[in-house]
Amino acid sequence: MDLQLKGKRALVTGASAGLGAAAALALAKEGVDVTINARGEEKLEKTANMILGETAVKPVLAPGDVARENDIDRILETAADVDILVVNSGGPPPGQFIDLALSQWGEAHRLLLASAIRLTRGVIDGMLERKWGRLIYITSIAVLQPVNDLILSNTYRAGVTGLCKTISNNYAVHGLTANCVCPGYTATERLQSLAQKRAEAASTTAEAELAAFAADVPAGRLGRPEELAALITFLASDRAAYITGVSIPVDGGLMRALI
Ligand SMILES: NC(=O)c1ccc[n+]([C@@H]2O[C@H](COP(=O)([O-])OP(=O)(O)OC[C@H]3O[C@@H](n4cnc5c(N)ncnc54)[C@H](OP(=O)(O)O)[C@@H]3O)[C@@H](O)[C@H]2O)c1
Repeated sequence: MDLQLKGKRALVTGASAGLGAAAALALAKEGVDVTINARGEEKLEKTANMILGETAVKPVLAPGDVARENDIDRILETAADVDILVVNSGGPPPGQFIDLALSQWGEAHRLLLASAIRLTRGVIDGMLERKWGRLIYITSIAVLQPVNDLILSNTYRAGVTGLCKTISNNYAVHGLTANCVCPGYTATERLQSLAQKRAEAASTTAEAELAAFAADVPAGRLGRPEELAALITFLASDRAAYITGVSIPVDGGLMRALI
């Protein structure tokens, strides 16, 4: 299916690995000119070379930390006239309420919610002028059902969901859609490191924790980053012009609620 995205411009943050890298690659495969961001420049360059190797698209690099306002402003300067914004970063540390220092709340706010607001603020005027835009926020199934030891993620991603829904309500009539995509357990470095932390706490192994994640999923396996990326690419296209303001899980059936 040709999604007719050739020539559109995308900014994908948190894109040197995992879900963000998969999203950037999938968009580039559709002919989208992608700007990719992450903090580590060497890995970002490797990802750009991987994308160039698999597509005809040479990604623009916009290194920086999305938890820092100045860095976001530089990233936005590099990625001019963004049609498709994919907001993503690393996840906040796990922990229950009493495990976390107050300072960690501020850090998680800057990483997850303040970054989404500032990135959106930076691209939305151009989208409104062009009467076309796609805002896509990578959140988590934690938004649909909070995960016990991910209170920072549960809290700030709920904020991102409120931001997304309100933007959708206000600007859908101007040709913008805003949606959240909610990964379940997806095989990335982040999931590996969560499994490692759980294994240390429970005196098991990371492999055993990953197997336990998979056993919870009706599909019987972990997700693959490209499975979330496929949804992102579809949402970016005109085929999805009438889908806005929703949070869509890509979780192998992990969420068992009816709607
Ligand atoms: N994988 C899952 O099962 C899953 C499930 C639900 C939700 N999520 C959420 O989805 C997001 C992506 O997950 P993932 O599994 O793809 O993570 P990942 O494998 O750890 O990749 C994270 C990417 O974001 C970049 N990044 C991290 N912090 C950043 C920052 N402050 N500014 C800019 N870039 C940053 C990383 O590169 P640098 O470190 O070089 O910056 C890397 O490219 C996370 O927020 C995670 O919590 C993941």
